[in-house]
Amino acid sequence: MKSTLFKIIAAIVLLVAGIFLGKSMFSSPKVSTVPMPSGIGLRTTGNSNDTLYANTITYDGEIIEVKSGASIQEAVKKANPGDLIRVYPGTYSENVYIDKDNIGLQGVVIEGEWPTLDGKKEINDAFLYSGNGILIENFKIVNYKGNGIMGQAGNNFVIRNNWIIDTGVYGIFPQYGKNGLIEHNVCSKIEDAAIYVGMCDNVDVLHNEVFDNVAGIEIENSRHCLVENNYAHDNTGGLLAFVTPGLPIKTTFDVIMRNNFVVNNNTANFGAPGSTVAGIPAGTGILIMAADDVVVENNIITGNNNTGITIVDLATGAPKANDPNSEGNPDRVVILDNIMYENGNDPTGEIKAIMLSQMDTKGPDIFAYGGGTGSSIRDKNRYRTFGLDGYGTAPINDTKGIRTMMTPSPVPARSVSKEELGELTYYGVCAGCHAFGTRLIGPPTEILQAIHNGNPQGIVDYINNPKNLREDYPEMPPQDYLSDEAKLAVAEYILNMKHETVTNSNQ
Ligand code: HEC
Repeated sequence: MKSTLFKIIAAIVLLVAGIFLGKSMFSSPKVSTVPMPSGIGLRTTGNSNDTLYANTITYDGEIIEVKSGASIQEAVKKANPGDLIRVYPGTYSENVYIDKDNIGLQGVVIEGEWPTLDGKKEINDAFLYSGNGILIENFKIVNYKGNGIMGQAGNNFVIRNNWIIDTGVYGIFPQYGKNGLIEHNVCSKIEDAAIYVGMCDNVDVLHNEVFDNVAGIEIENSRHCLVENNYAHDNTGGLLAFVTPGLPIKTTFDVIMRNNFVVNNNTANFGAPGSTVAGIPAGTGILIMAADDVVVENNIITGNNNTGITIVDLATGAPKANDPNSEGNPDRVVILDNIMYENGNDPTGEIKAIMLSQMDTKGPDIFAYGGGTGSSIRDKNRYRTFGLDGYGTAPINDTKGIRTMMTPSPVPARSVSKEELGELTYYGVCAGCHAFGTRLIGPPTEILQAIHNGNPQGIVDYINNPKNLREDYPEMPPQDYLSDEAKLAVAEYILNMKHETVTNSNQ
């Protein structure tokens, strides 16, 4: 605890020092404000012929200012697409729900003071968005119970330069979005994944620091993602690319993990019992489970006590899961050159047992187990490996031709059918606490079905204003931030559920 606090304080001190230096160098005016946001096109190359960064989203409508004591949600209510909401330093204890398109939310940092969203361990989520073209930058988000920033079916998102500390289950969780950028965030003390890219496409995750979480950066049931220049340290597992069975989107593929530091991920697992991440052994640097076409290149992977890189199939990694539509093997994984040392110093569980059967007391740099075809490695002899006999020689030497996985210009809004909306809301929100046939935090979904049979409005009324009905259960947090459409859709989805294809899910 002490060392965590120290790290946070040290990081804040560094940041403040950076701002101070910046200020004195440019002798900024007394009230220093951050520059106007540049939307998705921040990373311009200076080359105007570069189509990669053309057609960006801008927030050049009205500027709405929120000062300490006022409400960010009220500003969102007033805002029209294209407006920029600038939030000044102060403490805002609220849940902000954004269901409009092209809204920028920008913290204004003045003399080291940040606008802070404090959930006081009473509020579930800080920012929830379902709009497209949402920007959230320069906030400090602390003490929430559910998520720091969660998106649902919003495309063209930018989540940048936020501190997200102790916000419950997920730190940054865009779900079912296409074309997004998650960069320069610091996330810590998250019970599940600090950065969780779930059921998304075309997302870049760059320059983030994640530490003291269960999972650092997780690419789950997502395609075309670049995870680059991040510092993942002191988590249970550092970087993960995997498939969770039972979700509406079944695959993870085309992921590049490049130029990251993956260091000392040995924190004891404190994930919620039953969640997928609760099964990650402490000491896992990188985990690839059932994901295809993952390239691991030029990372520095060191001090992870179980293994540097673990590559497993679903049968090994999530044996209780059962989804006939999920293909469970990691295929065509490509390991290029990485720097790996001092991994496996204190292996645990199955890896320890397997290594002992090989007369080895150390865990390997790279551990592969279970099914999968077509995987390869550039130079096997550089590392201590286990299970790589079937690996061929890598077909490429590097991925430098790929600068981003984002799309060249913003993509259209997703049209989500009522069934999809119900399914997404169920898996994105309710399944954290409800499972079909078993008790989680809340009662089994089949019980909810029986109580409200034929009466979706009954469910809507309850989730708007839950009452504590059962002595042996905690109170359910209100879900009134969901749109009326989403509430009804999820109620109908629940009433139509026949079973769940998954018994082991972190949704
Ligand atoms: C943070 C955990 C949590 C989340 C998220 C959650 N629930 Fe619950 N839910 C509970 C708990 C706990 C109870 C039992 C409360 C009690 O009986 O006092 C409950 C009870 C219920 C009930 C039973 C009401 C009755 O009449 O007995 C319904 C219906 C319900 N939840 C629907 C939902 C829906 C729909 C969602 C998603 C939009 C959802 N819940 C999300 C924890 C949660």
